[in-house]
Amino acid sequence: MNNPKQSADRRTFLKSAASLGATGALGSVLPAAVLAQNPSLQSPNPANGHVFLTEPYLQYTGPGSMTVMWVANLPSYSWVEYGETDALGQKAHRVTDGLVEAYNRINRITLTGLKPGTTYKYRVYSKEITDFKPYKLTYGTTIDSGLLRFTTPNEQGDSVSCLVLNDVHDRPETIPHLLTLKGNDPVDFVFLNGDLFDFQTDEKQLIDHLLKPCSASFAKETPFLFVRGNHETRGKYRSEIHQYFANPEGRNYYSYTWGPVHFTVIDTGEDKPDAEPVYAGIVDFDAYRQEQARWADQVMQSPAFKKARFRVVFMHIPTFYHNNWHGPTHCQQLFTPLFNKHKVDLCISGHTHRYGVHEPVAGQHNYPVIIGGGPKDGNRTLMKLKANRKELHLSMLLDDGKEVGSYHLTAKR
Ligand SMILES: [Fe+2]
Repeated sequence: MNNPKQSADRRTFLKSAASLGATGALGSVLPAAVLAQNPSLQSPNPANGHVFLTEPYLQYTGPGSMTVMWVANLPSYSWVEYGETDALGQKAHRVTDGLVEAYNRINRITLTGLKPGTTYKYRVYSKEITDFKPYKLTYGTTIDSGLLRFTTPNEQGDSVSCLVLNDVHDRPETIPHLLTLKGNDPVDFVFLNGDLFDFQTDEKQLIDHLLKPCSASFAKETPFLFVRGNHETRGKYRSEIHQYFANPEGRNYYSYTWGPVHFTVIDTGEDKPDAEPVYAGIVDFDAYRQEQARWADQVMQSPAFKKARFRVVFMHIPTFYHNNWHGPTHCQQLFTPLFNKHKVDLCISGHTHRYGVHEPVAGQHNYPVIIGGGPKDGNRTLMKLKANRKELHLSMLLDDGKEVGSYHLTAKR
């Protein structure tokens, strides 16, 4: 039976809350970060009208597919037209639980059923929604990207080639600069190995410091994959950044096979203890790293991992050659036994800002530890990784184009 006093108190509370909400006063007691509207809907600058804030950028999300992403200034209905000829002929939009995604700005549309190793043309469209009422939706103008192209991955093929960037730290000019060093070799994907930023502020930072330079340099035609570093876990926009990326398995840590290589990607978290006052009680990375160790142990027992000619790990914080702070030490304790047990061939990291190629050390790490540099001029690196069924070669170039490290492996299986 209800306590009459409690019921009366509850009615009083509800009445107060309703009146506060109606006047907007409730909002004043909530922090701005909580009040921040869904970034997918909130236009940063509606006065600029219906324009693209980014060009399309491709994300690799799995075999037979390609995910096309872009950001518009105003809420829209968006779609991709694609096909093997300039006539295109196929159309894709995003559907979730029966709803075609619309009245959003951050677009993530996955094209499926694609043929491997095939060049497709595509064009993205955003049709502004000027008014959204039930039974009366009003469209405005439609904008499009122009005709673009990409070649689908051939995951069953005999080779793979990728570039690795890390520790860009909010220096957008680094991305096109390092891409100029790649030469004419074809590249299947670019891997962004964490700390692209110092901390997360807002959408403009994501666009200006990463998405725009990536699209301008390569990402309209070549997909990139991303894993967080310790710096992407900081700042008021830290929980929103996932909306701007699409990874295989839809998670921050994931695995995939491309040609002869199986890739395991680990999200290494923060570098200091979770209880450190600078984090103010809002991180919990110890448990998250442990969850990933259990996951990696399973992945590394899978047929895809066992069958792969080469087993490569991407993780921002390296397992060795670090400063012995808590995060790196925890990574070392959790992941090194797994990598040794399951015979990982190569581990590629960043974080320390000291580039280097470290040979295996028996009894410690039976795998080479490769660390990319950054972020200042004269210390930035681009890694080029190529593999076929017989051999894998990694070359590390400094930002002046000089090779400062390399590693060569012959297939053991
Ligand atoms: Fe870092």
